[in-house]
Amino acid sequence: MHIEIKRLSGRGKDESMILLLDADQQLPAAQFSKEEISYFKKERKAEKKFVLINRLNMLIYLQVLDNGTKALPQQLESARKAGASMTTRLIAANSETVVIKGDVSKELIIAFAEGMALSGYQFSKYKSNGKKEATRLKRILIDSENVSRRDAELLQIIVEATFQARDLVNEPPSFLTSVELGKQFIRMAKESGFRAQVLDKSKIRQLKMGGLLAVNQGSVEPPTFTIIEWKPARASNKKPVVLVGKGVVYDTGGMSLKPTGNSMDFMKSDMAGGATVAAAVYAVAKAKLPVHVIALIPSTDNRPDGNAYVPGDVITMMSGKTVEVLNTDAEGRLILADALEYAKRYKPELVLEFSTLTGAAAAAIGPYGIVCMGKVDDDTRSALMQSGEQVYERLAEFPFWTEYDDLLKSDIADLKNIGGAVGGAITAGRFLSNFTDFPFMHFDIAGPAFSKSNDSYRGKNGTGVGVRLLFDFILKKAGTK
Ligand code: BES
Ligand code: ZN
Ligand code: ZN
Repeated sequence: MHIEIKRLSGRGKDESMILLLDADQQLPAAQFSKEEISYFKKERKAEKKFVLINRLNMLIYLQVLDNGTKALPQQLESARKAGASMTTRLIAANSETVVIKGDVSKELIIAFAEGMALSGYQFSKYKSNGKKEATRLKRILIDSENVSRRDAELLQIIVEATFQARDLVNEPPSFLTSVELGKQFIRMAKESGFRAQVLDKSKIRQLKMGGLLAVNQGSVEPPTFTIIEWKPARASNKKPVVLVGKGVVYDTGGMSLKPTGNSMDFMKSDMAGGATVAAAVYAVAKAKLPVHVIALIPSTDNRPDGNAYVPGDVITMMSGKTVEVLNTDAEGRLILADALEYAKRYKPELVLEFSTLTGAAAAAIGPYGIVCMGKVDDDTRSALMQSGEQVYERLAEFPFWTEYDDLLKSDIADLKNIGGAVGGAITAGRFLSNFTDFPFMHFDIAGPAFSKSNDSYRGKNGTGVGVRLLFDFILKKAGTK
């Protein structure tokens, strides 16, 4: 899956053209006939935002952007959605190349092109007619003084990285085992220039990652633990930013088996957090951003078996803390706790952890944003929030009160792995915080990671949520300090 996005230099051929217009802009008389101008006026009176001009040798798509009264994040989101609708039209018209023009701001042009490109995604690997299906929009050229080559390059990178994350989420568990996930990270390392090291089961045993090993006990496949690193020569940060992502390649619930019906149907997406953090570093490396970033991805599947861990077991984590397992379906926190413990060796400036951790987070806010919680300074918090608004992967911060820790007290061990009836997303986050001694934010993407219906430029199935958020945050970090 590849879409080329480029800043156009020189004149293009007679390709389809999109002209972006401000809310009350008229057509420039130099380029349009009187008839075209009055037709456009008439359509605008009827409140149309999209007008097609069908010339003999080319199609001109006129797109009026929603940049009147709304706040910037909403304007950008509206431009992305308009871009997604445009892609649908262009695919229907069999267009391969399109040129975007218009004297609107760089942010709006980029957002529009981003929506176009992201909605051009398809996953046809397992379609026997996959090659035939792949006749789609291939090239988006941007012809505007307001957009630089670097702007277009960064957009291309972020779109490709998002597609990487979507591909990994969409891969079925029959292909994407924990070992295969490790191989995919190695491939991404070669493509992007980051370093990746995949620890195998014997190494995981040596490290005493009791959480990861316990979840893996019912599995036929061994666990993996991947360490990804992007360390540029002149990093703007002294201590690394560490990303942690849940890599459960399939979650049956284990012995606390998920009910049949459809609760397991999309549990191949339980490695979405791992895909997100790896794809974010992929983008950072491709863009050669001067920020030292590490990503840690513990991976296994979670299944019942004669040897599987069971409710009632007590396990010793890498940190030495003991955990009483009372539900084997609360497995994500167990493997993540070991990854957070491992992160301590880097003395990180900040740890951002992404996981499809709880149904409670998804139930609370649905697919409209990301539930987050943690302990970071005010500047970091507002930078994260701002990035969330900018890329429209909005953050809803939940309380992180220590009182919730009472719900995790075990009679016989240091902790138990489930809270209780209330605050399920929060107790999961509080559980993790027992394994941190650094500034930490937890992002629960159980709601937005996988879309069961087509959601504009986010598409259907794996959405790649979090990749754009992380990239924007790290990009801004590269520019400051
Ligand atoms: N992977 C699930 C969370 C999930 C649910 C992700 C729905 C995406 C959609 C996680 O491992 C899980 O099963 N969590 C349990 C925790 C509970 C047993 C405390 C849950 O949310 O029900
Ligand atoms: Zn689970
Ligand atoms: Zn899970």
